Amino acid sequence: MTTLASPVSGDAITALGAQFATVRRQSLALCETLTPEDMMVQSLPEGSPAKWHLAHTTWFFETFILREFVSGYQPLHPDFLWLFNSYYNGVSDQPEKTLRAIFSRPAFVDILAYRRHVEDAIAFMLDHEPAQEALTRLVLGLHHEQQHQELLLTDIKHALWSNPLRPIYREGVLSTHAQAAPLVWHEYEGGLREVGFEGDEFCFDNELPRHAVYLHPFRIASRAVTCTEYLEFIEDGGYHRSELWLSAGWDAVREHGWQAPLYWQREGSAWQVFTLHGPADFGTLRDTPVCHISHFEADAYARWRGLRLPTEFEWEVAASPVPTHGNLLEGGRLHPSVALPPASGNANRHPLQLYGDVWEWTASAYLGYPGYRPVPGALGEYNGKFMSGQMVLRGGSCVTPATHIRATYRNFFSPATRWQFSGVRLAQDVS
Ligand code: AVJ
Ligand code: FE
Repeated sequence: MTTLASPVSGDAITALGAQFATVRRQSLALCETLTPEDMMVQSLPEGSPAKWHLAHTTWFFETFILREFVSGYQPLHPDFLWLFNSYYNGVSDQPEKTLRAIFSRPAFVDILAYRRHVEDAIAFMLDHEPAQEALTRLVLGLHHEQQHQELLLTDIKHALWSNPLRPIYREGVLSTHAQAAPLVWHEYEGGLREVGFEGDEFCFDNELPRHAVYLHPFRIASRAVTCTEYLEFIEDGGYHRSELWLSAGWDAVREHGWQAPLYWQREGSAWQVFTLHGPADFGTLRDTPVCHISHFEADAYARWRGLRLPTEFEWEVAASPVPTHGNLLEGGRLHPSVALPPASGNANRHPLQLYGDVWEWTASAYLGYPGYRPVPGALGEYNGKFMSGQMVLRGGSCVTPATHIRATYRNFFSPATRWQFSGVRLAQDVS
């Protein structure tokens, strides 16, 4: 998002202050169509109310910057230190996560006042020769808030879907009735490849250190799997054939009764799909990337096709030369869109459509890179302590902010997760 060379110039601090204001405003803008009651709902245990996202992102700046670097800073409320702590044991104990569902107090107006209090204090700090480490953490805090913007939208989608009235988050146009570009294979040679972040810009600690990996020759698909293609798997009995599934995946299918992606519902003989623009007929979405599937479903689909998921490093090697353009949050579509065929004149090339639309499950477990060291102290809990039992997703989605995604970015969730905008891209070995 920003480059912070040391020493930091006055201009760089001004630019950072402007980015801070923009990101903070964006979080509130996402809540414009929501009522205070909407913002209280926590409809699944791994989700959070919108109001909590607004408070917790504020808490992050207060806890890791203002309390540590601004002498004389007066917290708005002493209890907020533990109340809006998500999981940092090095800071304090935390309220049980499921209790976020009864979050009627502090009231929404009190959360807004908390946001302003912290924003004013950050502005004051930026005007008074801020410490380098405070600025580094401010940049981290902005990327943190952007992560929560995506989570806020995925959580509110689930909250509205859980309401029998199936309210609309925002009016919008879904259908283009366009046909997806044909799926074309891009082939890569094997050998040693460098992966991980390189450069002066921001990255998360889990993208480091940059290191070499050995890849066998592989092919990766030019675009994600569409709803129509996924429907063929469903209609071929995919959800009833144990031989297609990982053992834990088959357990999940039976335990949850999965028959289709999350938000797909049968209306008579046809499927309806719930979106942030309300329920949509399958026909209007058929050529868009399938989304809200778990790693287990992505993996079973690939196996059914006789193919596999890419590893996170295959994905990264393919993505590194590709500009981070795509259907991302700022485009405002809020749903995966059709990957269009290349413009004429370019007809023999099928560019890789890698960013936006859906996060793509990879075959890679979320682990630290060789030599990975979380920063000392409570901030070291940010990413490192989740390196167990989760899978890596790559590429960003239609609700990922554009300044938040890059080739080396590693998202991670447990393999049964479906409420994120998660889909599937295919890969294969070159034999
Ligand atoms: C990277 C999306 C898995 O949801 O916990 C938010 C993002 N980290 N606050 C998560 C995050 C700290 C993280 N994910
Ligand atoms: Fe967080």
